[in-house]
Order: sequence, then structure tokens, then C-alpha cells
Amino acid sequence: LKEETIVKITAAQDLKELNQIRVETLGKKGPITEVLRGMKDLSPEERPKVGSFANEIRDLLTEEIERKKQVLEEEALNAALAKETVDVTLPGRKVKHGTRHIVTQIMEEIEDIFVGMGYQIVEGYEVESDHYNFERMNLPKDHPARDMQDTFYISDEILIRTHTSPVQARTMEKHDFSKGALRMISPGKVFRRDTDDATHSHQFHQIEGLVVDKNITMGDLKGTLEVVMKKMFGEDREIRLRPSYFPFTEPSVEVDVSCFKCGGAGCNVCKYTGWIEILGAGMVHPNVLKMSGIDPEEYSGFAFGLGPDRVAMLRYGVNDIRNFYQNDLRFLSQFKGE
Ligand code: DAH
Repeated sequence: LKEETIVKITAAQDLKELNQIRVETLGKKGPITEVLRGMKDLSPEERPKVGSFANEIRDLLTEEIERKKQVLEEEALNAALAKETVDVTLPGRKVKHGTRHIVTQIMEEIEDIFVGMGYQIVEGYEVESDHYNFERMNLPKDHPARDMQDTFYISDEILIRTHTSPVQARTMEKHDFSKGALRMISPGKVFRRDTDDATHSHQFHQIEGLVVDKNITMGDLKGTLEVVMKKMFGEDREIRLRPSYFPFTEPSVEVDVSCFKCGGAGCNVCKYTGWIEILGAGMVHPNVLKMSGIDPEEYSGFAFGLGPDRVAMLRYGVNDIRNFYQNDLRFLSQFKGE
């Protein structure tokens, strides 16, 4: 039995087969148990001899099985490791990821330019009061120029802002001029009750700008905008100021950027006139300063409202603003960003 079993153990291919051998030889119904169980029929002289012989065989076989078990376990582990090996030199699968919206990219670029010039970025509120959106911008309730901005009212006094200009008032009233000039921009969403078409959207973006200090002039406004536009569009761009009207600035201007190199991107957006209007601006109206607690005899300022959607259209020759808001990935994913 001993030799026979050892041969079997040695030949065992896997742990299952080995376990079967163990059960057959050492189990309850196996030959060794049978011998030990039959001891009661033996004479007292035979018992110890047979007993110790059977125990010896059992211990020996148990040991053999244990040894083989370790060998088989190790083989199984090695086989598993070999099977599951990962080839780290294989190129990975590309993960599809989105990009920041092109208008967001443009806004961040403009923010960077102004931060570099010492401006602070201020966040306003998309839900605003009539007070800040209109009255504090020199547009009392019955002012005819309220018609320039068709408004989504939430109640008599609450609206979703039609422009980012209310942030001017909110910032001015808090500014401590003993700590120096006020220089801020405020980017964000604005809303108008307009019918959407190629150049109008009921929701678009603005970046408000405001500088207030002693002796600020129109020259500061023009110089600042020139620097920014050249940074945005290239050194060969020019700007021009046209007289205009806003209730919160006096004098007021509209600012165009030249569409050089017609035939390239932006030309269609300029409607082949060579210029595109990109922002409204002017010298802060004395009433606006006064309402925010600033003395217009001592301080003056310039302000502007810039349209990043327009900037994106001009830069990339997009001739329909609705492209920015229809979430068509075939359009949006062209602007990969960095
Ligand atoms: N708020 C104006 C608009 O939405 C844009 C604007 C014009 C802002 C002149 C200004 C400014 O700060 O000085 O049409």
C-alpha cells in the first residue's frame, strides 16, 4: 500500500487529484483506518505492533501528501502569474475627454491679460435687482434707454441681469481708495429677451471692466484697450472709437477692431467692412460715481463691456453665435485648448 500510494502521489497532476488520493488512503473508509479499527479483534501482543506500523505508514503518507501539495500549489501560483502577466510596453487605450468651452477659453485668456495688468476679478450675480442692474447705472424706472436691453423680469424688483455693469456699482461702493486705485473686471453670463439669430442670443457673455482713480482720462481707456486687443488678436490689429450712447458713461464710445487680412478667419464676421464692434465703453458718468459714494470732482474713471462671444467669432471666423449654444460636439470639439 505504501509504495503504491507514493507512486500515485508522485504522479498526481493537480490538487484535486491529490486530495482524492488522501481521502482514499487516509480517509474514514480507507485501508489504514480499517486496520486501526480492526485492532480490537487482535490479540494484546499483536496490537501495539500493528498499531505502530499502521501509524507509521499513515504519518509517512500524510507527510508525502503535504510535500506534494506544496509543490502543486506553487505550480498553480506560477501558472496563474504567467497567465495574468501585463505587458506594460503596450500602448494604452485613449480615454475620451471633453474640452473647455471655447467661450470659457477666451474669457480665461482675457482674464489673464487683465490680471497681468493689475486688475482684480470680481464675480457678480446672475440674478440681480432692478436697483443695481438699472437704477445704479443711471437708468431710473422711466428712462427710455431701458428699451436698449429687453429684460427677463422675475418680479418687479428682481431680474436676470441684462449686462455685467451692475458689478461696477457693487464694487465701487465697497472700494477703499486709501488703498489705491480701483481696477477690476467681471466676467459672466447675461440675458436679454431677444429673438435668437446669427448675431443675437438670449444668453451670452460679457466682461465688464472698470478703473477709477484720480485723473483717469479717455486716453487711459484707449491705451488700455489697444494693448489688450493687440494681445488678443495680434500686434497688427487696430482699434477705432466711434461716438455712441450709454446712460452710465459720458462720453460713450463703441470700439471696433480691424479685420486685417480679409479672406482669413474673421473676415466674414466683419461683413467685409474691415471692422467689427467688440465693446461699448466710456468715461463713468458722474451720477454713477455719486450713487456709489464717490466724489466725481475728485475721482474719474473709465468702463467697458466686452463681448467674448464676439471675440471668439472674430478669432475663428464663426459667423453664427448659435453655434456656441447648441452643444453640437462636432463644432465644440474643434477647440481643443491647451
Ligand atoms: N453694459 C453695456 C451693454 O450691455 C456695455 C457697456 C457699455 C458696458 C459701456 C460699459 C460701458 O461698462 O462703459 O450694452
